[in-house]
Amino acid sequence: MIDQVTIERILDAAEITEVVSDFVNLKRRGVNYLGLCPFHNEKTPSFTVSPSKGIFKCFGCGKGGNAVNFIMEHESLTYPEALKYLARKFHIDVVEKEESDEEKQQKDDRESMMIVSGFAQKYFSRFLWEEPEGRQVGLSYFRERGFRDDIVRKFELGYCPDGKSTFTEAAQREGYRMEFLEKTGLTIRREDWIRDRFGGRVIFPIHNIAGRVTGFGGRILKDKPDTAKYLNSPESEIYHKSRIVYGIFHAKREIARADKCYLVEGYTDVLSLHQAGIENVVASSGTALTHDQIRLIRRFSSNITILYDGDEAGIKASLRGIDLVLEEGMNVKVLLLPPGEDPDSFARRHSSSELLKFISENETDFIRFKTSLLLRDAGSDPMARARLITEVIRSVAVIPDQVARSVYIRECSRLLDVEENLLYSEVRKILRTRSGVAGTPLSAGTPSRVQKPAKPPEPPAGELNTEESEFLRFLLRYCTTPLFEQESDTPGKAEIITVGAFLIGGIRDEEMISDKPVFKTIVEEISQKMEEPAFRPEKYFINHPDGAVSQTASTLLAEKWVESKRWSKAGAYTEKEHEALDWLVPRILYEFKFMKIKEMLIKWEGEIAEAQKLNDDELLFELLAKIQNLKKAEKLLSDKLGNRAIT
Ligand code: CTP
Ligand code: MN
Repeated sequence: MIDQVTIERILDAAEITEVVSDFVNLKRRGVNYLGLCPFHNEKTPSFTVSPSKGIFKCFGCGKGGNAVNFIMEHESLTYPEALKYLARKFHIDVVEKEESDEEKQQKDDRESMMIVSGFAQKYFSRFLWEEPEGRQVGLSYFRERGFRDDIVRKFELGYCPDGKSTFTEAAQREGYRMEFLEKTGLTIRREDWIRDRFGGRVIFPIHNIAGRVTGFGGRILKDKPDTAKYLNSPESEIYHKSRIVYGIFHAKREIARADKCYLVEGYTDVLSLHQAGIENVVASSGTALTHDQIRLIRRFSSNITILYDGDEAGIKASLRGIDLVLEEGMNVKVLLLPPGEDPDSFARRHSSSELLKFISENETDFIRFKTSLLLRDAGSDPMARARLITEVIRSVAVIPDQVARSVYIRECSRLLDVEENLLYSEVRKILRTRSGVAGTPLSAGTPSRVQKPAKPPEPPAGELNTEESEFLRFLLRYCTTPLFEQESDTPGKAEIITVGAFLIGGIRDEEMISDKPVFKTIVEEISQKMEEPAFRPEKYFINHPDGAVSQTASTLLAEKWVESKRWSKAGAYTEKEHEALDWLVPRILYEFKFMKIKEMLIKWEGEIAEAQKLNDDELLFELLAKIQNLKKAEKLLSDKLGNRAIT
């Protein structure tokens, strides 16, 4: 843990243009700097750096943030890793927080295990390249399978000598302790004997996200029926097989750049794809995919393509994988190879370009995949078709974002030739049984929205719509600016209301705080800190430890947004924004509430339809009363806004 004071010093020292200049050629443009965006391909520069605000922003791809965000994104590092990078660059000593003895011990243990694993990896690799046994047995195995030397080196493959405990003895001679050899599983010790776990096997080291070796897979050289083809490191304090994917360290940069990750089953699949030039690939290593593994991938991209063998087992595994990926709110595609082929064998039999062609031509989105698979089995049997629909809809129902859900429902309706309405009601059924509470997740596309899809299209879940963005932008920018005076409890002494107090007061008492996490965080933290004299919302949120928050704050505060398009387009933008706060700020608030009310109306109308179906009169009346109130509020607001007809 880096302590807060150090973090502040790093943030203060990390001059944004200096940080970015290491990677981007920046040219001065007025008060800002401009360059070619490193995060997407572009020919004309739209990547802007503002030294005064300490932020970057690409107006092409939308990426933005402070120096820490830049390094996290560009170097694929975590927040603490990026801080340490910056500390090194700006010569700041990183003071790590005092840890308890127990924490220290645990950390020391983990560190010792990592060190011994690092030693083992080097030993196995050296043995592979330099010892006759290693070359004749291990290296020639890899070469015969068609792996190029540069791939063998890149993945630090190795060979463990085929003696009982040759490796363990070598490690002990070098001073490594039995305790850690055992804890990492490199050595197996019983009462009266010890032996190397991986003796006589070729070695695939497993790197964690930072590139350190935390585990191993060892493959026997000739498949034998009574011996496991692969042996893997046991679970330990540094190796949890359900939390790591093989190849993430070598893939993370390309996953981020390509904004896509291929998921394969085995070690050799990863190697073969790299050899073919596809580097955004990781393997689940033969275990059933887990949520932790998917979240690890999501740090770099939310697009996953599952690339499995086309046999029954592969299909089953793909189907399971699909739902897991969807549940994490990510996009998933599937590509089945011909039965009996894995990416490794396929890549060996075809050229890189054939492989790439095969991938691009055969990738299918999950709805198509599931539908065609099930259609194949269902044929024209009506019962089977009904089950099929439920099956496909089950996957749709796990998608957390309702907009994404409705897109898939449309596709599904087309492919299966079933009315969207029917599919929506299936989704609702599943959601209801899943949550156990009637009605709660009903905001998912109500019938009225199915027929008239909301337009303009809403941004994806979590992303802010215009009203929310504007609300936050004014809140961040003008939080402490006085807006007007108001009579206070002490007669004759007027109270100053700031923009922040006005905006927050305006939504606080009406349950109107948007439930999008970024919005909630910013509003909640501003209301807590607003009164502190030293509180600087811009700095505080741009440097916020939650990446999504700091990203949003810097986007909202970036230069070009200042002249809000909405005001200028409407022709109403005649004065400088900060000089027009007295009428702009209330307007921002009303627009926000107007939008919010519309959202609630849609949601409750959906619930009403449901309550009618269930004959739940009590709920019905309650909802009707709520709606009536909302409609009143909507009318009031619309009068205030003056220029909108109630729809
Ligand atoms: N696996 C394992 N233990 C086994 C078999 C498989 O841990 N006994 C894991 C390995 O991570 C392996 C993956 O499951 O890479 C996929 O298994 P499989 O397809 O059988 O192996 P391949 O990766 O294709 O290996 P090879 O081509 O060398 O047979
Ligand atoms: Mn294989």
